[in-house]
Amino acid sequence: MEMEKLVSLCKRRGFLFQSSEIYGGLNGFWDYGPLGVELKRNVKDAWWRDMVTAHDDFAIPLGAPEAYEMTGLDCSIIMHPQVWKVSGHYDLFHDFMVDCTESKKRYRHDQVRGRWVEAKGKRVFVATSAEAESEQADLQQKALKFFNLRGKDADSLAWEGPVVSLATVQDFSQVVGPDAKGPGTLTPPREFNLMFKTIVGALGTEEDAAFLRPETAQGIFVNFKNVLDSTRVRVPFGIAQVGKSFRNEITPRNFTFRSREFEQMEIEFFCHPSQSPQWYQYWRDRRFRWYTELGLAGERLRLREHHADELSHYSCGTADIEYAFPFLPPGEFGELEGIAHRGDFDLRSHMEGKLVREDDQLAVEKGPDGKPRRRGSGKDLSYRDDISNERYIPHVIEPSAGADRGTLAFLCEAYHEDQAPDDKGDLQTRVVMKFHPRLAPIKAAVFPLVKKDGMPELALEIYRGLKPHMTAFYDEKGAVGRRYRRQDEAGTPFCITVDGQSLQDKTVTVRHRDTLEQWRVKADDVVDEIRRRLA
Ligand code: GAP
Repeated sequence: MEMEKLVSLCKRRGFLFQSSEIYGGLNGFWDYGPLGVELKRNVKDAWWRDMVTAHDDFAIPLGAPEAYEMTGLDCSIIMHPQVWKVSGHYDLFHDFMVDCTESKKRYRHDQVRGRWVEAKGKRVFVATSAEAESEQADLQQKALKFFNLRGKDADSLAWEGPVVSLATVQDFSQVVGPDAKGPGTLTPPREFNLMFKTIVGALGTEEDAAFLRPETAQGIFVNFKNVLDSTRVRVPFGIAQVGKSFRNEITPRNFTFRSREFEQMEIEFFCHPSQSPQWYQYWRDRRFRWYTELGLAGERLRLREHHADELSHYSCGTADIEYAFPFLPPGEFGELEGIAHRGDFDLRSHMEGKLVREDDQLAVEKGPDGKPRRRGSGKDLSYRDDISNERYIPHVIEPSAGADRGTLAFLCEAYHEDQAPDDKGDLQTRVVMKFHPRLAPIKAAVFPLVKKDGMPELALEIYRGLKPHMTAFYDEKGAVGRRYRRQDEAGTPFCITVDGQSLQDKTVTVRHRDTLEQWRVKADDVVDEIRRRLA
């Protein structure tokens, strides 16, 4: 599937719009349109329901070491600035950027790619920020321009090695930046903190600076004691949260994949340290299964364990659930969700202060005065098991998913083109979004075949019968074939049509989006029929 087709469908049918589009848009920010808001809400609702409300606290789920409890939170976006100092985000949450002194553009160091090329006795690294599919074409254009050659002279360009990241290049004096005419215009890489800064209160001094949260997780850690004290949960248990996070990404790209404002669906699962490896395995597999159950199946979805050298300093295991998004080069995957074994890093940090690894141990980072450099809360965040009387700091398994990336993957997976007959019976290419019925923005559409003879009245009655149970849509405009096509593009699993026969025998046709199968059902039974098929 070509990404441009999906992007254009998303705009045309109201799944996604660029934020503030009438003012030229704002890079890295997106608005969900009437269909998109339903789709994303369904993704988040499916997650919340499957992970929290429908979870049975008393049964042992497949692959779990024992039964466990799940509960939820909804924390503020702006938190005490010390939270981010202790969590490490203040000191460590940065990317490296390079600036171009000629074009005044800014790039993420590791995302600029290029290739060494020689011609006319000169060797340079030409760089591009083009999308993967057009990378080589863009590099060739740039090299021809730089060496003052014409297209027919492309053979005189001697390319060296594959396309690689700018991060592999030491000497920038030979680099022709993505938007520069000559070499040597890129600055050395500089650190850039990804947290958005804001001011709380009217004074506006640096002391009032605060940050928009870059992850929802910290709200859960700092409320660990509140949840323990206000509920009767016992370890093992999980706390879930869905909410907005913000990262000032240097180069937002690939539609909503890397945005500056996005939503996360995170679980912090607290368990006994001795059981944490089993719980890590359980959550890894459970979360992978969740995507497959909702239709992301086959070779485009994979689970990738991180190598030991990729792990964060506190982690003894991390796996990513990845999807082969169509905007990536063949064989490359993008992260949908990370499942991390975080040990006791977070609770300990919020007790004692920011932790660093010293001699293979985690220790509170000390300033020159020997005191913690980033002070923790000093509160006791340990857990006492009231049966065994053991007191310990629970270990944490964190399945952390992106609601926007998930939604984008479901959109990509749903996009299909096939052949279907039009109103005259001729085969035409049809675009159909084959969403899992749980995710489909509209579950059923109702059409009167024509706008007369009592058909609209019966169709509206059916529409009103569906409304309390599901998102339904009524459409009486245009040829019925065109109405089917519009619902196929919206991904509506069932279309119900009231026709001449309906007025005689009180039956209607139901059409299935994927199979195009049509069958007749009594008008009085159609609501139950659709509900049964969606269940
Ligand atoms: N608490 C752990 C954490 O935040 P992460 O890997 O940085 O981990 C988790 O983020 C998920 O959030 C990612 O797997 C991705 O789905 C989503 N995410 C992260 N940055 C994003 C961005 N800039 N745009 C959209 N989604 C993003």
